Amino acid sequence: MFQAPIVLRVRKRQKLVEDKVSRPEKVKFQDVRLYLVERKMGNSRRSFLTQLARSKGFIVEDVLSDTVTHVVSENSQALSLWTWLKGCDLKDLPSVHVLDISWFTDSMREGRPVAVETRHLVQDTVPAFPEGSTPTPEVKVSRYACQRRTNTENYNTTFTDAFEVMAQSYEFSEIEGSCLAFRRAASVLKSLPSVVRCLGEVQDLPCLGEHTMAVIEDILQYGHSFEVEKTLSDERYQTLKLFTSVFGVGPKTAERWYRRGLRSFGGILTDPSIQLNQMQQTGFLHYEDISRAVSKAEARALGNIIDEAVHAITSDAITALTGGFRRGKEFGHDVDIIVTTPEPGRERTLLPDIVDRFKQQGILLYCDYQASTFEWSKLPSLKFEAMDQFAKCFLILRLKASKVEGGLNCAEEDDRGWRAVRVDLVSPPLDRFAYALLGWTGSRQFERDLRSFARLERRMLLDNHTLYDKTKNKFLAATTEKDIFAHLGLEYIEPWQRNA
Ligand code: UTP
Ligand code: MN
Repeated sequence: MFQAPIVLRVRKRQKLVEDKVSRPEKVKFQDVRLYLVERKMGNSRRSFLTQLARSKGFIVEDVLSDTVTHVVSENSQALSLWTWLKGCDLKDLPSVHVLDISWFTDSMREGRPVAVETRHLVQDTVPAFPEGSTPTPEVKVSRYACQRRTNTENYNTTFTDAFEVMAQSYEFSEIEGSCLAFRRAASVLKSLPSVVRCLGEVQDLPCLGEHTMAVIEDILQYGHSFEVEKTLSDERYQTLKLFTSVFGVGPKTAERWYRRGLRSFGGILTDPSIQLNQMQQTGFLHYEDISRAVSKAEARALGNIIDEAVHAITSDAITALTGGFRRGKEFGHDVDIIVTTPEPGRERTLLPDIVDRFKQQGILLYCDYQASTFEWSKLPSLKFEAMDQFAKCFLILRLKASKVEGGLNCAEEDDRGWRAVRVDLVSPPLDRFAYALLGWTGSRQFERDLRSFARLERRMLLDNHTLYDKTKNKFLAATTEKDIFAHLGLEYIEPWQRNA
């Protein structure tokens, strides 16, 4: 009488063991759950592909359910596939990747789930929603800026300016997490194609937490955020903002001066106990000029001046305008330029030669030169987020109005015929050019997310010098930015789409 249950239990255990035997592979990608559509693919090919994927550490579900993240089909008609999917009663079909077999084969070849690109998608050809209803955005906004296209047009400055105030305020208080959260949220809103008009439009966006949502809600409801207003009128915030606007004054110095009770430039300049370093002295001296935006025409003029100088020194030099101007911005706070040469090692001495020339021409107002500390043997650096090791200089140059098409960016009555401009020059070896160009083009948020994406999604380390694959234990060569995006399995994002 008591034997039946025991037999049952044994059978159950056997069944478990059998399951394990048929699925001995280790799961490597917990977040990706595949479902292979049998129709058109056929039963035996489906079993074969299932085994293949499982052997590479993928989870392949036998039945289509709400846990599935990637639906893969082969030779399917888009219309009939989508009609079938819509009839499957999934809770969140728009968030499921519906993919052609090409995504599957790419992923098998790479041994990891590759990033979904437009060419992989089986597009839904029928409108998902009846006319008049609110459509869910077709493409999900990625939480990585390097998977978003962000041009210079920002439709949501009301929100992003408010976020920047909050981010800055947290930066002053050294609360890095909150600072980054506001910067990340601002970056997501910058990528939107239109003005946000109601909370519903931002509800499903990534990187928007409780705090950022509260600010958006206030702005939508009252036209402004009380918390942001309060921050803006805060004396400490105002003072630190003012002090850090001086070239050479960082948050630490600003804080020290604030703690001493200083509240104005006049106070700093007349305090006998304050020793300004040379950078700060120059910062105060040219404050008006340097705090005024640099125009595209001015950036172009400086590009010409630098081109001319470099080519007078070495005939085969290469220069490239980077930073915000390469991203298509009309105005910037400085001009960022890469200079290099194919002659190995020459890039280490190029900048001092250029600077000497500027001195002779009488246009050098300030130079902070940092010699190259770049050595292959130091890579990959443990401090991957740190500043790069290339030779570089932070300059202030005297730019004559006559050199600028359409004249200088200043009011006519202030025109002395010249202005001071901040210029950054960096000089990597030519074989590091692509990495340096990508790193110096920015934006900062775009770079930050490229690095996180590489690390978290690809087990790779990226910085301004190189890309290192931790799985394969090797450096990946690149001669163009496109090569780097391809190594990372990312769709190429044009420079003017990197204004994240
Ligand atoms: P900028 O600070 O010049 O920013 O750095 P920007 O985007 O050009 O903005 P504006 O218009 O001048 O205000 C440009 C890029 O160069 C990188 C920064 O991370 C940024 O992405 N950079 C700058 C470095 O990688 N290393 C440096 O030493 C300096
Ligand atoms: Mn810049």
